[in-house]
Amino acid sequence: MRHTRADFPKDFIFGAATSSYQIEGHGQGGAGRTQWDDFAATPGNVVRAENGARACDHYNRFEEDLDLAAGMGLDAYRFSTSWARVLPEGTGTPNPEGLDFYDRLVDAMLARGLKPFPTLYHWELPSPLVDKGGWRNRDIAEWFGEFTEVIMGRIGDRVHAAAPINEPWCVAWLSHFMGAHAPGVRDIRAAARAMHHVLLGHGRAIEVMRGLGMKNLGAVTNHEYVLPADESDEAAAAARMYDGIYNRWFLSGIYSGTYPPDVLDMLEAHMPKGWEDDMKSISQPVDWAGINYYTRKLVSPGDTGLPGDLHEGVGDLPQTTMGWEIYPEGLYGMLTRVGQAYARNIPIYVTENGMSASDVIQNGEVHDQHRIDYLNIHMDAVQKAISEGIDVRGYFIWSLLDNYEWALGYEKRFGLIHVDFDTLERTPKQSYHALKTALKR
Ligand code: FCB
Repeated sequence: MRHTRADFPKDFIFGAATSSYQIEGHGQGGAGRTQWDDFAATPGNVVRAENGARACDHYNRFEEDLDLAAGMGLDAYRFSTSWARVLPEGTGTPNPEGLDFYDRLVDAMLARGLKPFPTLYHWELPSPLVDKGGWRNRDIAEWFGEFTEVIMGRIGDRVHAAAPINEPWCVAWLSHFMGAHAPGVRDIRAAARAMHHVLLGHGRAIEVMRGLGMKNLGAVTNHEYVLPADESDEAAAAARMYDGIYNRWFLSGIYSGTYPPDVLDMLEAHMPKGWEDDMKSISQPVDWAGINYYTRKLVSPGDTGLPGDLHEGVGDLPQTTMGWEIYPEGLYGMLTRVGQAYARNIPIYVTENGMSASDVIQNGEVHDQHRIDYLNIHMDAVQKAISEGIDVRGYFIWSLLDNYEWALGYEKRFGLIHVDFDTLERTPKQSYHALKTALKR
């Protein structure tokens, strides 16, 4: 790596991120059924209909995985807690085995000097709550509050920092307008409701965690850097709307307590009654802003002319195996934008950044110079933002392990550690070893 720890501010945190459904193995430990089990069981949704029933079997191998994380010299580990593992029915009776698991997991982090950074919800909604409308139903804020109380009542005393919801755009728009993620809904009314309720859930969880006496609470939003596909007025308008739906809706809701008027114009007819009264709860102060960043998009109008129909294009930059262009300028752009316009007095963490790639396995070694290059140029972007006064306090790499990449199944490899999904053997990649050297104290 071109960078070492010494290039960053003294207490800068380096971490790696994962999520429960993507690694744990949801078929064990008494976890309830989730919307991702159902989505994957429906033909055509997920590559090879793969699901998270076994995944990386982290549920049984977490000690080994945390040994590897600590062995790399990481300071922190961002993970998520599965709602369905803790409350198999979504509400009501907890699964003691699930609570014990997260309890042991947090203790295992602390024992290795890793700061626990949990996210409460990373997409595996319990199926019984989907039956009741899931994120379309306003009651989800209360259900989520109950889950927050139960899980944080157990581990909240030992975590370093916590956030309620991973990537609200994915929870709402990607899953209820585009239908690309569970529950696979394509409906503008459902989408408008989810766009609001996901933030109401965020607010409710923050309230509950404050009530438990927890500190250092943040929000994790995902962002793409948006550019018009060409110089036409139509492309400019489409890019502005895409940016509104993707970026401004969530940033403005959480950090300013308002929704962007252009997006609201489009969604207002579909919003739940009385949404205005929720803005205070949604925008209650948080202690840090988490930014997930991967790529840029070149946007133009879609074919139908219907609201929200936008074409996401890519340019001619090198791409990852996700088909995402590699564009570190966008990370710098989002950090400065968020720092200057939204998270004005609070620190920012890059809570996810990384690449999927075709890593080359030779004589038992996993070569991924491409990932090292990717990390180098994105760390440059972080440094540049810091040098211009943006208060970035940490950088988390997605992901610690190769894992279940949602609708794309197991073939998109993002890990610093290679996982053989037949034998479940872990092999640290070249990027892991490079980071280990870079992070040495
Ligand atoms: C993010 C998700 C994470 C992973 C990466 C590649 O949007 O938070 O679970 O899928 O993308």
